[in-house]
Amino acid sequence: MYRIAPSILSANFAKLGEEVGNVISAGADWIHFDVMDNHYVPNLTIGPMVCEAIRPLTQATIDVHLMVRPVDRLVPDFAKAGANVITFHPEASDHVDRTLGLIRDQGCKAGLVFNPATPLDYMDYVMDKLDIVLLMSVNPGFGGQKFIPATLDKLRATKGRLDAYEKASGRKIMLEIDGGVKTDNIADIARAGADTFVAGSAVFGAGKDSDRNRYDSVIAAMRAELSKV
Ligand code: DX5
Ligand code: ZN
Repeated sequence: MYRIAPSILSANFAKLGEEVGNVISAGADWIHFDVMDNHYVPNLTIGPMVCEAIRPLTQATIDVHLMVRPVDRLVPDFAKAGANVITFHPEASDHVDRTLGLIRDQGCKAGLVFNPATPLDYMDYVMDKLDIVLLMSVNPGFGGQKFIPATLDKLRATKGRLDAYEKASGRKIMLEIDGGVKTDNIADIARAGADTFVAGSAVFGAGKDSDRNRYDSVIAAMRAELSKV
C-alpha cells in the first residue's frame, strides 16, 4: 500500500539507464521524473526525450512531475514518451480543469502539486479529475533540501479531504509527498497520511554511482520504517 518513488534528479545522469535499472531492482515502485524549465522554477532538467529513452528499461510507473510554465504544451509529448502519471502546479496553468482533462485524455493519471504555501483550495472543484495529489515538502527546484515540518499538518488536512471524497464517491486518490524524505522521517510522514514517497538524495545519495546494494539497503530501511506505521 506504500509506494517508494526515487527521484532521478539525484541520479548520475551519465549513467541514467543503469541507475533506473538498479533502483528498480533494489525495490523501488515508481520512477519520479522531475521536469524543470528555468522559468517556473530556477533550474533546468530533463524533458520528453529522456523519458522516452528510459521507458523501455522498466515496467515501473514513470511519475512525471512538471515544474514548467506553461504546462499544456508538454503533456501530449510526455504521454507519447511513456509517462504513466503526470502532475503539475496549479499556479503554472491558466486553466487547471482543462489541463487535468488533457492529461487524462492522453491516457495518463493526473494530479495537482501544492507548493508549501499553496492553499489546498485548488482541488475543491476538480476532485473528480484527480488521481493523485502531491504535496511539496520543500520549495520546488532542487534536490537535497530539508523537509518543511508544517507539511505534516498540511498532509493531515489533505488526507481528511481525500478520505471524505473516497467515502462519498468510492474512489481513492493517492497522496504523494516530495522533498526531504529520509529513512528517519518517512514513518511520521506516512502517519500523517502519505502513501507515495518521493526520495531523491536519500536514495541516490546513499551509494557511490549505481551502487545497487546501497540502494537496496536504503529502500529496505524505508520499508522497515513504514512497516511500523
Ligand atoms: C524538487 C523535486 C524533488 C526532488 C526531491 O523540486 O521535485 O522531486 O528531487 O529531492 P530530495 O528527496 O533530495 O529532497
Ligand atoms: Zn519532484
